Amino acid sequence: MTKISPSILSADFSALDREFARMEDAGADWAHLDIMDGAFVRNITFGAPVIRSIRKCTDLFFDAHLMIRDPVRYVDDFADAGCDMITVHCETENPWEAIDRAKERGIKTGISLNPGTPSSMVEEFVPRVDLVLVMTVNPGFGGQSFIGECVPKISEIRKFASGCNAGLEISVDGGINSVTGKICTDAGATVLVAGSSLFGSDMKKLIGEWKRFGPTL
Ligand code: DX5
Ligand code: ZN
Repeated sequence: MTKISPSILSADFSALDREFARMEDAGADWAHLDIMDGAFVRNITFGAPVIRSIRKCTDLFFDAHLMIRDPVRYVDDFADAGCDMITVHCETENPWEAIDRAKERGIKTGISLNPGTPSSMVEEFVPRVDLVLVMTVNPGFGGQSFIGECVPKISEIRKFASGCNAGLEISVDGGINSVTGKICTDAGATVLVAGSSLFGSDMKKLIGEWKRFGPTL
């Protein structure tokens, strides 16, 4: 079954405990945490202290998407705060160091690539990470339109994984709704990240539908 990871960027930040209860009730598999530093992307969100607080509200798997420069400096903070997986961008200066540190800390790892980055940039990571996060918008803001040109990268990455990492999760993030989500799972995505479409509508109904999308690995 396709996993669904709602991005709390579109949640009501004044009532995150209620938002987590809503996500759990709706059948969300993971909670996607978008960490932005105002340098790697032109927006700032939240960091480890907030994650430490919201960790008390839910047992959902924390899928942290680090859109930050120099991620290795912060891996311990995010691990200590309760993240279950840390995904770093291949466009940053030290993705391997961050991944190695996360592994030492016993948490799962992911590598992400921007819409303008070719899939070949993540090939070397595929055997050694749990997840590849294919960005389908330019990172920085929720509510943007899906960039369809990113879809072929999903099957290219799936091909890299055949033979070396059959259980690799491929997630897609940005502009995911009932139409674009289906396109991505048909192409081989196993995790759908979505903010505005899920929080702005009947989350339970949508998650129920989306979980049935796509091939079962
Ligand atoms: C964008 C973030 C996304 C974003 C998705 O930089 O990585 O996770 O919150 O939001 P929607 O689903 O609204 O495009
Ligand atoms: Zn994200």
